[in-house]
Amino acid sequence: MCGIVGYLGSREAYPILIKGLHRLEYRGYDSAGIALINSKLDLSVYKTKGKVEDLENYVADKDVEGTIGIAHTRWATHGEPNSQNAHPHYSQSGRLALIHNGIIENYKVLKEELISKGYTFSSDTDTEVLIQLIEYMQMSHNTSIYEAVQLALKNVIGAYAIAIIDKSNPNQLIAARKGSPLIIGVGDKEFLIGSDATPIVEYTNKVIYLEEEEIAVMKRNGEISITNLSNVPQTPIIKTLELNLSQLEKANFPHFMLKEIFEQPEALRTSMLGRLNMESKTVRLSGIIDHRDKFLKAKRIIICACGTSWHAGLIGKYIIEELTRIPVEVEYSSEFRYRNPVITKDDIVIAISQSGETADTLAAIKLAKDNGAFVYGICNVVGSSIARASDTGSYLHVGPEIGVASTNAFTAQVTTLTLIAMNIAEEKKTISKERIAELVEELQQIPEKINQTLQMNMRIKLYAQIFTYARNFIYLGRGFNYPVALEGALKLKEISYIHAEGYPAAEMKHGPIALIDEEMPVVVIAPKRGMYEKVLSNIQEVKARKGKIISIVTKGDTAVKELSDFCLEIPDTEECFVPILSVVPLQLLSYHIAIAKGRNVDQPRNLAKSVTVE
Ligand code: F6R
Repeated sequence: MCGIVGYLGSREAYPILIKGLHRLEYRGYDSAGIALINSKLDLSVYKTKGKVEDLENYVADKDVEGTIGIAHTRWATHGEPNSQNAHPHYSQSGRLALIHNGIIENYKVLKEELISKGYTFSSDTDTEVLIQLIEYMQMSHNTSIYEAVQLALKNVIGAYAIAIIDKSNPNQLIAARKGSPLIIGVGDKEFLIGSDATPIVEYTNKVIYLEEEEIAVMKRNGEISITNLSNVPQTPIIKTLELNLSQLEKANFPHFMLKEIFEQPEALRTSMLGRLNMESKTVRLSGIIDHRDKFLKAKRIIICACGTSWHAGLIGKYIIEELTRIPVEVEYSSEFRYRNPVITKDDIVIAISQSGETADTLAAIKLAKDNGAFVYGICNVVGSSIARASDTGSYLHVGPEIGVASTNAFTAQVTTLTLIAMNIAEEKKTISKERIAELVEELQQIPEKINQTLQMNMRIKLYAQIFTYARNFIYLGRGFNYPVALEGALKLKEISYIHAEGYPAAEMKHGPIALIDEEMPVVVIAPKRGMYEKVLSNIQEVKARKGKIISIVTKGDTAVKELSDFCLEIPDTEECFVPILSVVPLQLLSYHIAIAKGRNVDQPRNLAKSVTVE
């Protein structure tokens, strides 16, 4: 949710930290702050409401000298977004500063205890409680800052990724994590920390993924020591980052979201690379082949995910059941983790998460594993917590998704679930070799067919101008395209703030039809494949009530086109692959409506890219 970045080394910290904050801004952006220790050993904290740009303006005339510092971009959980609640937070003496991503659940109890010992607070945050607690531990136990951090964290319930600097020791940076991600970049006698790799990649590709309940102490001479909360030393494992700088830039696009929509053909090609064998016309996913028996024996698959990833999971259910005949249940991770679900050792849980850090999905994995299920993770971010917590899995390989509204990760998730279904079907022989070969042939065409779909961009832009007036939208689809209707509605809500609902088209007559009048735009996904005739009747029902119909149809369609006020054509494909194409015009429609309404599409209000709190 929040973004954290830190630096210790011989360079000036400020430019590195500010650049890092810009890269992390997609994670949270209601306020930002920075703390630096200068050569005179002054610890200065500057923070402000708003974006990183506002912070830069605020510090323009301030002293930002120093080679050690920490910085934070916030997504409010405790206390409204204002400069008092922004991070970093000082300790009572003004000697320590801390940044934090996560939630300290028992902060109220801790705060009351500290108040009774004479501590005062200047913010409403749980984070300020933590830094005061660390200082209190240090004073009351007369110990080092490292031991004080350890003692304080033992008293904390909740999730945290933290970084601390101490003006009495400007040669040391301390970081710790539990539940929220934290990565350490290891340079030549310098260290960077980040809540993901984006602020680090410019300076080094050597990284350490801090594990649960580990504390790292980094020194200016290049030494690093890692221990866990029980003080057991851990060997730092340095890995190589698979990320390059150009992936973090907008190229010639005005927004990351548009870039990511247009990157989908290439992203899906990369996603399928090495997995589709065009010679043997087969699919191979190492996560499945290496655990073949598990999949052959599986009695049930449970998919856990949130938001857009949950919509991908719903499409996955349709495809996996169709091709493999294994029953699939799709669960919101946040419900699954708390409702005492029936899980057995013959179940396979597929956890889907772009960020790989979604707290509810991580907790769902833990529950599944505790009950003996085998967990297959589908993540985009390499080395993320969910990827590491899963027994096996597949990465999406679409590169960093920066726009808050998920687009290319969604189509890659659906593609990966399709590959999983095809690979299991091959192993279980639930469909013929010939049929698999046909599907492989067609799947390989999908990136080019997305390219053709993207050609409608300018037309969609024109349609979007017409619909900026709308206060509500309805999205309808059936079968494989019902989850696409949900996803289209979510995309519109997220970035344009227009209320939108997705329904299975036939459900409309059970209630939502009452909403339809001449002002209501109704987006209907009506491809030739699947329940075309049925959807056609649903469209008639909307038309009869004067709803404005925007249809997504297969190229060459005439019947739906005639009934529609606006029509967008996608290339024909196998029924189970249609969602990968039909979602693309919906992504573009949301984007252009949001732009026409003057919204910040890459950083929509109240949202964050990586939801690391419950
Ligand atoms: C929507 C969106 C969210 C995420 C959800 C899960 O555009 O981005 O709904 O899909 O927060 O996130 P991940 O996939 O990172 O677990």
